[in-house]
Amino acid sequence: MSHADDHSGAPEGTRRDFLYYATAGAGVVATGAAVWPLVNQMNASDDVKALASIEVDVSGVAEGTQLTVKWRGKPVFIRHRTADEIKSARDVAMGDLVDRNSENNNLPGTDASDANRALDKDGKWLVMMGVCTHLGCVPLGDRAGDFGGWFCPCHGSQYDTSGRIRKGPAPRNLEVPIAAFTNETTIKLG
Ligand code: FES
Repeated sequence: MSHADDHSGAPEGTRRDFLYYATAGAGVVATGAAVWPLVNQMNASDDVKALASIEVDVSGVAEGTQLTVKWRGKPVFIRHRTADEIKSARDVAMGDLVDRNSENNNLPGTDASDANRALDKDGKWLVMMGVCTHLGCVPLGDRAGDFGGWFCPCHGSQYDTSGRIRKGPAPRNLEVPIAAFTNETTIKLG
């Protein structure tokens, strides 16, 4: 088929991105082996998946890694940011942003400063819908793209370490869902 042939000639990085995207549609995706036990546990329970709210144990998510969980049929990125990622997110001037709205459902109408997007005061935890605001692909994340955050392989949107759109066709920052810590290691979505 000509479609398949087009992909077979693609550079390695592009093929990997495509596979990642294809896999993301199937359910739960995680980066980092340490988080798999939790993902499997969550995947095992249809009851949990059907609930409007879920609680996610983030005790196994080391600094500099992230977990992707499926919630209400969509991927949610939960990232434990490094000090460097927090600093680079907080050093950005508002004037450099494409979308100056926090797009944070917990803080509607606030500006897109990193403090208004992170879940905790220190900014260690960033929780966002893993849905590109252009046409809904799942962006790649692990310091991906020119801004060290997330990169959408579909049409090249680039998000910074706060999940804010910086370059490419996406119009808005990655949406921050209703989320809160219920204790030191548990984040409740919804
Ligand atoms: S869907 Fe992400 S750039 Fe188009």
